[in-house]
Amino acid sequence: MRKTVIANWKMHYGPVKAGAWIRAFRRERLPKDLEIGVAVPFVSLAAARASLGRAGVPYLGAQDAFWANEGAFTGEIGPAMLKEFALSFCLVGHSERRQHLGETDDMVAKKAIALQKNGIRPIICVGETDAQRKKGETLKVVRAQLAAVLSAGLKVDGAGCPMIAYEPVWAIGSGKACSAQEAKVVHEAIHEALVKKFGKSANEIPVLYGGSVDARNVAEYMSTTHIDGVLVGSASLDPRAFGMLCRAALPA
Ligand code: PGA
Repeated sequence: MRKTVIANWKMHYGPVKAGAWIRAFRRERLPKDLEIGVAVPFVSLAAARASLGRAGVPYLGAQDAFWANEGAFTGEIGPAMLKEFALSFCLVGHSERRQHLGETDDMVAKKAIALQKNGIRPIICVGETDAQRKKGETLKVVRAQLAAVLSAGLKVDGAGCPMIAYEPVWAIGSGKACSAQEAKVVHEAIHEALVKKFGKSANEIPVLYGGSVDARNVAEYMSTTHIDGVLVGSASLDPRAFGMLCRAALPA
């Protein structure tokens, strides 16, 4: 499986700055064997797509989607609308949405399934809080978050093949990255749950690590078994620094 690096801008960059980021990033020298994506705010998708032009990289994604394609859901954006931007992927269940907007496992599962039905790969984010980690509940929490989406009918094959992102909440935006060895234990547990559900096809599901990844620590994650790539927040905001991170992820 090719390794993956996904940028998550979070709530940064309207259309003007998003277009400038894409144009600047297109000038970066990038490893050929790396899958590179960028999760863009809804309002900036059109500008990002236009600035990409014919370039295939980075893949474009969104940061969230609603579970219905249309209807009386004021303010929401459905997967069928996102499909018009030819998106490759969409994050769901990011801990910031679980925390600040009350998203539940059930909502996250419905969103992931709806995206798959529209041929968009869901990147399902899971991870424990600092308090849960201190109580030794990491694996229990992550397994439960994963089970919710697996039991809702997630599929492996086709254009909407999912990815999982393990993002310990305490490591996000804190500068306190989870060590590759500590993350590996959780990645193994995630892989085990996927194999139990899907058998051999589980090997097609990339499991990414996220939380304070930067150009200095990225190589260590990328070379750890069962870590198939990374999801990068703050270190993706500067296009040149993100280009450097991508080169560090897969040194020539
Ligand atoms: P961070 O965010 O890299 O700024 O820690 C990662 C994420 O939330 O996806």
